[in-house]
Amino acid sequence: MINVIGLGYIGLPTALMMASHSVEVVGTDYNRELVDTLNQGKTTFKEKGLDELFSDAVAKGIRFTTEYQKTDTYIVSVPTPYDKFSKKVDPSYVVAAVKDVMKVCPKGTTVVIESTVSPGTIEKFVRPVIREAGFVIGQDLNLVHAPERIIPGNMVYELLHNNRTIGADDREVGERIAKLYASFCQGEIVVTDIKTAEMTKVVENTFRAVNIAFANELAKICRHDNMDVYEIIRICNMHPRVSILQPGPGVGGHCISVDPWFLVGDYPSLAKVIDEAMRTNDGMPDFVLNRIYEIMNEKGMTDISRVGLYGLTYKENVDDMRESPTLQLLESQERHLATGLKVYDPFVEKDVVKNQYHELDTFLQDVDFVVIMVKHNEIRENMDKLAGKVVLDCHNICELPGVYHI
Ligand SMILES: NC(=O)c1ccc[n+]([C@@H]2O[C@H](COP(=O)([O-])OP(=O)(O)OC[C@H]3O[C@@H](n4cnc5c(N)ncnc54)[C@H](O)[C@@H]3O)[C@@H](O)[C@H]2O)c1
Repeated sequence: MINVIGLGYIGLPTALMMASHSVEVVGTDYNRELVDTLNQGKTTFKEKGLDELFSDAVAKGIRFTTEYQKTDTYIVSVPTPYDKFSKKVDPSYVVAAVKDVMKVCPKGTTVVIESTVSPGTIEKFVRPVIREAGFVIGQDLNLVHAPERIIPGNMVYELLHNNRTIGADDREVGERIAKLYASFCQGEIVVTDIKTAEMTKVVENTFRAVNIAFANELAKICRHDNMDVYEIIRICNMHPRVSILQPGPGVGGHCISVDPWFLVGDYPSLAKVIDEAMRTNDGMPDFVLNRIYEIMNEKGMTDISRVGLYGLTYKENVDDMRESPTLQLLESQERHLATGLKVYDPFVEKDVVKNQYHELDTFLQDVDFVVIMVKHNEIRENMDKLAGKVVLDCHNICELPGVYHI
C-alpha cells in the first residue's frame, strides 16, 4: 500500500492517478478540513479531468485520512517554499513529514520525496532525521527522490504522459520505484542518483525562469525605445535556432517563481544570471503598475478606481493564486499607499482582495480601463465586451484597435 503524504496540487492527483490504476493508496494530509472535503466526495481545487479521476479513484478504493499509515512505501508531497531572506529552500515541511513517517514506518520501508528540493537537501536535512530515528539507510530503509513536472491546467494529461526522473542510492530500489510510477506513467522514466534528481528539477524550472526573464527584458527595452516586442520576437523565432518566449506581467505559482531562488541561495557567487533573471521577473508587476499610471496620464484619467485588473491567478484557466503577478501588483500598490484598483477572476469564488468582483459584466460596468493580467479562456471569448474601454493587454491576445501593451 502507498501512503501519499500531502494532498495538495501535486499529492492529490498523484494519489488519485495511482489508485485509478489499481494501486492500493491511502492519502494523508494534516489539514482536517481538506480531508473531510475529500471524504465528502468533493475535490479541493479545480483542474481539468480531476473530478473524473477522483470518482474513478474512489470507486477503486482510495481512502483519505489525517493519520500516517504503517506501510512499506511513502510518497511525500508537502510544500517547499523558499526563505525570503536567504533565498534557500525551506525544508521544514519535508523534515516534519519525514519525522512523522519515522514514527509509524516498519523496517524495509521506502520513503519517496516528491517535493521539489535544492541539490543536497535530502543529504543535509532528510538523512539525519532517518538516522536519528534509528534506521540504517540502504539496509532498514530506502530513500528515493521523484520530483514532479506537471503543469496546473493540464495535470492529469501530464501525469500520464510526462517523462520522469527517479533518484535513488541504489539502482535496484530506483528501478522498483520506477515500476510503481510506470503503473500509470507512459513517459520515459530515468533512474539516477538523488542529488542529480534534485538538481534536474530545479534546473528545469530555472531554464524556464531565465528564458521568461529574457522575454520580459526585451519587452522593457522595446518599450523604452518604442519598438514592437511581439513583432520582433515573431521574426526572431523564424530563425531555425531561436525560440524566444513571450513577455508577461510576471511569474507566479509554486515552481518557476520559487525554485530558481534555491540555486541563488545556495550558490550566491555563482548563480548570477539566475539571480538577475529572478529579479527581472519579480519586477514585472511593478513595471505593469507603472504602465497603468503612464497610460492613465496619457488618457487624462485620474481615478484609479475606474481601472480593473482582469485575473488573479498566476496562470490561465486554473484557480491557483500563489505568488500571482496580480497579487504582487496589488501589494506593491499598497506599499505606495495607494489602493482602489478593481479586480475580477472567474476562477476565484472567495473574496481574497479588496474591490473584488465575481461577475464579468458587473466588473466591466464599473471600470473604464481593463488590464489583462491573465489570459483565461473567458476573456478570450468575451473580447468584444472590452470595445470602447482603455485596454492594457499584458499577453498580446486582444485584437481591438488602440490596445496598449507592456
Ligand atoms: N503546484 C505545482 O505546480 C507543482 C509542480 C511540480 C512540483 N511541485 C512541488 O510539489 C510539492 C508540493 O506542492 P503543492 O503545490 O502540491 O503544495 P500544496 O500546498 O498544494 O499541498 C501540500 C499539502 O501538504 C499538506 N501538508 C504539509 N505538511 C504536511 C505534513 N507534515 N503532513 C501531512 N500533510 C502535510 C498541506 O496541508 C497541503 O495540503 C512542492 O515541493 C512543490 O514545489 C509543485
